[in-house]
This record gives sequence, C-alpha cells and structure tokens, in this order.
Amino acid sequence: MAPNNEISSILPATAPPQKSIGFAGADSLARQLLEQYSGIPRGRVKSHIRAIVVKASQHPDPYPCITSFRFLQFEGTQHPLFDTILYHLTTPNSKQTLLDIGCCFGQDIRMYAFRGAPTQNLYGVDLYPEFLGLGYELFNDTDRFGVISMLETSLRHQEKPTRILSRDTLI
Ligand SMILES: C[S@@+](CC[C@H](N)C(=O)[O-])C[C@H]1O[C@@H](n2cnc3c(N)ncnc32)[C@H](O)[C@@H]1O
Repeated sequence: MAPNNEISSILPATAPPQKSIGFAGADSLARQLLEQYSGIPRGRVKSHIRAIVVKASQHPDPYPCITSFRFLQFEGTQHPLFDTILYHLTTPNSKQTLLDIGCCFGQDIRMYAFRGAPTQNLYGVDLYPEFLGLGYELFNDTDRFGVISMLETSLRHQEKPTRILSRDTLI
C-alpha cells in the first residue's frame, strides 16, 4: 500500500523504534482492532505496525508515544468516562460527537468506532497531518473513516490558541 503522505522522503531517521512491539497476548485490544476492524491478517499485524512506526519515527518531531509503541495502549480509551462516552455515542440516532485533540494516528477514535460509534461523529485533529495519514495507513480505513472526519488542525498557524486545553483532552 502506497503511503499517502510525504513522510518517507524525510531523512535521516531521527528516532528509531525503541523496543519491540509491546502489546500483550493474542487477544490484546490492539490485535483485535487491527485484525477485526482493519482486516490485517493475524500473521502480518506486527510487521504492519512496525512499518508504520518506522515511517513515523523519521518525522522531525517523533513522539515517544509512537517510537515506544505506547499508542497501542489506547490510553484515551482508558479514561474513566470511556463507557459513558461510548454510551452517548452509540445511542440510536445520537447526535453526540467526540473530538480527540492531538489524536496522532487516531487510534483512540478508531477504538470508539470499533466499539460501535458512528465514524461520522468521531473527529481527530493533530498538529501533524503526516500522523493522520499514517493513521489511515495503519488502520486501513480510508474508505470507512471519511477524510472529513480527520481535520488537519490549524493550531500551528496561530500564535496563541484562543482557549487552552490539555494536550490530549477528549471532548
Ligand atoms: C504524546 S502524543 C499523544 C497521542 C495520543 N493522543 C495518545 O494518547 O496516544 C501528542 C500528540 O499531540 C499532537 N500535538 C501536539 N501539539 C498539538 C497542537 N497544538 N495541536 C494539535 N495536536 C498537537 C502531536 O502531534 C502528537 O501526535
């Protein structure tokens, strides 16, 4: 699958992946998501993840949550309100929406989608559109997770945000 961003042309690799893919067990959330939602064959899950992380690690601003594979822990979905948020998102005809600010690959909103939230009500923004693009590649869902659901934030073009939110706030 061809990458849909320019990251592969960025040299040199500034932060190679730090350790092996650390998600536990055959039934981990990451494996369930990638196999059942993304359709990645069981035997290719690890190499698929590694290929994305290698590309992302070449970014000039390689976040440790990527290079340490911490994004596979889906920390946003471990929020105490996860079930409440999911309930509101999955109620029939719900108009509730979720915005993940600083979503990186968008792994947390993919988890909400996997658990039944309508993708048209899920939004992710990130400083770097390259990470959003790699998210589509990682989760193999360009056709299901409409491009309009992933907003390229313009925050980096502002000198000061009008409202300060903690970096990973889920609204
Ligand atoms: C530490 S990572 C966390 C990613 C993800 N939320 C998670 O929990 O795994 C921080 C992310 O926030 C993004 N970010 C940093 N500053 C931002 C800003 N001003 N606006 C939007 N995204 C930002 C980064 O590009 C990066 O993807």
